[in-house]
Amino acid sequence: MPEPAPALATLLVADDDPAVRQSLERALTREGYAVVLAPDGLAALERLQAGGVDLVLSDLKMPGLTGLELLRQAKAVAPDVDVILLTAFGTVEEAVRAMKDGATDFLTKPFQRAQLTKVVRQALERRDLIAQNRALQKRLDDLLRQGNMIGTSPAFRRLMTLVQQVADSSATVLIQGESGTGKELVARAIHERSSRRNGPFIAVNCAALPETLLESELFGYEKGAFTGAAGRKEGRFELADAGTLFLDEIADLSAVTQPKILRVLQEGEFERVGGTRSLRVDVRIVTATNQDLATLVREKRFREDLFYRLNVITIQVPPLREKHEDVPVLAQHFLRVYAAKNNRLLDGFTDEALGCLEAYSWPGNVRELENVVERAVVLARGGRVDAADLPDAVRERSVMLMRGRTAEPGATAVPDGVFQVRVGTPLAEVEARLLEETLRLNHGNKTLTAKMLGIDPKTVFRKLKQGEAEDGAP
Ligand SMILES: Nc1ncnc2c1ncn2[C@@H]1O[C@H](COP(=O)(O)OP(=O)(O)OP(=O)(O)O)[C@@H](O)[C@H]1O
Ligand SMILES: [Mg+2]
Repeated sequence: MPEPAPALATLLVADDDPAVRQSLERALTREGYAVVLAPDGLAALERLQAGGVDLVLSDLKMPGLTGLELLRQAKAVAPDVDVILLTAFGTVEEAVRAMKDGATDFLTKPFQRAQLTKVVRQALERRDLIAQNRALQKRLDDLLRQGNMIGTSPAFRRLMTLVQQVADSSATVLIQGESGTGKELVARAIHERSSRRNGPFIAVNCAALPETLLESELFGYEKGAFTGAAGRKEGRFELADAGTLFLDEIADLSAVTQPKILRVLQEGEFERVGGTRSLRVDVRIVTATNQDLATLVREKRFREDLFYRLNVITIQVPPLREKHEDVPVLAQHFLRVYAAKNNRLLDGFTDEALGCLEAYSWPGNVRELENVVERAVVLARGGRVDAADLPDAVRERSVMLMRGRTAEPGATAVPDGVFQVRVGTPLAEVEARLLEETLRLNHGNKTLTAKMLGIDPKTVFRKLKQGEAEDGAP
């Protein structure tokens, strides 16, 4: 027998079959792991929330919360803990789906002990590597980003003035704006510019957790508050004491949780779940949503009294299409960040690529721009990001929005990038005009014009020559 050593890691095993739990416990304990058991998904989630778990092994088919649901909610409670799914009905589709949802690995029952220990070891090794990598990336990010928001447009400057103005009051702030506009960043900016900047900034996503878990996450719980509550846990309200509590996706608060938040706002006190003692904290509340809260109030889906409490100051974060001047600046910024992350030497964007980025409408806002640039950095083969490295949707919009000239005198104006052709116009004339307009769009760049029209640059040169010759003809 080997010397008893400290446990290698703590593994949480969730399976509704006691025999399976027992055999896994035996096998894993023998390998030197500490093993905790949960008979169903909810118990597993509660155990996970209590902390100290390094890896989860979960059955896929369980009563109540299925393995896939557990997987999704586990990512909300403990994003750094990997989940390995076990199933007796191992189909490829299920495996693929689970991996897409963030499962680290998949084991089909019955499995050999060697298989089990190998999968567990690999998952733990991967986790260590990711942690190391993340620490390095964070240092890099801090160097590059300095926690700042970037922009130069008038709309952006107005936003930052407002942020500065509200930062120092203790009033509740409601941040509204489309998805990906930077609401969380605004919340952080408020905190960093406030007198609470040395206190904690604690963020909670109200949409990520089911009601009961959200409450114990927010208010904490006392020992024995529910099965699995082995000790007492401080909630986010307590953790945010002397700092800022950011309640994200506030529109998703359930009807049961809404009055509890209202009470904290009105009376400044709350109790831990399962507790009787009232606690007081000094917390500044900032909330955000991409939904229109006023409409939800009218539809009776959000409490009016809570709305007024949250809505003392509203900050509307503009969509990216309303601050177009920021697109090149942000694109450059993300290019630097992702080039550094991916170890790529990239010098910027080609004119064509920049033109596409500027013409696109960015329905997914800054987040979409960030993703597009990250992807382009990975794809780019030259020294600069080219239009070919951008997704089709971003390239196509640009062609549709081509700057054109309006029709002949007397004709009604036509949209930018469009010119009218009368039915029956000789093809040669249409071709010449199309060439001329596309060339204009590309500021006379013949290579780009050829690319856009899908013809050889030589053809462009030839046709232009031809045109000049004809113009010059008597
Ligand atoms: N002005 C900015 N300067 C630099 N980065 C920004 C800016 N605005 C947004 N970002 C980046 O864009 C991404 C999306 O921002 P954030 O998560 O704050 O958006 P959100 O409005 O909270 O979106 P959602 O509604 O989907 O939660 C983040 O990576 C953020 O760092
Ligand atoms: Mg957000």
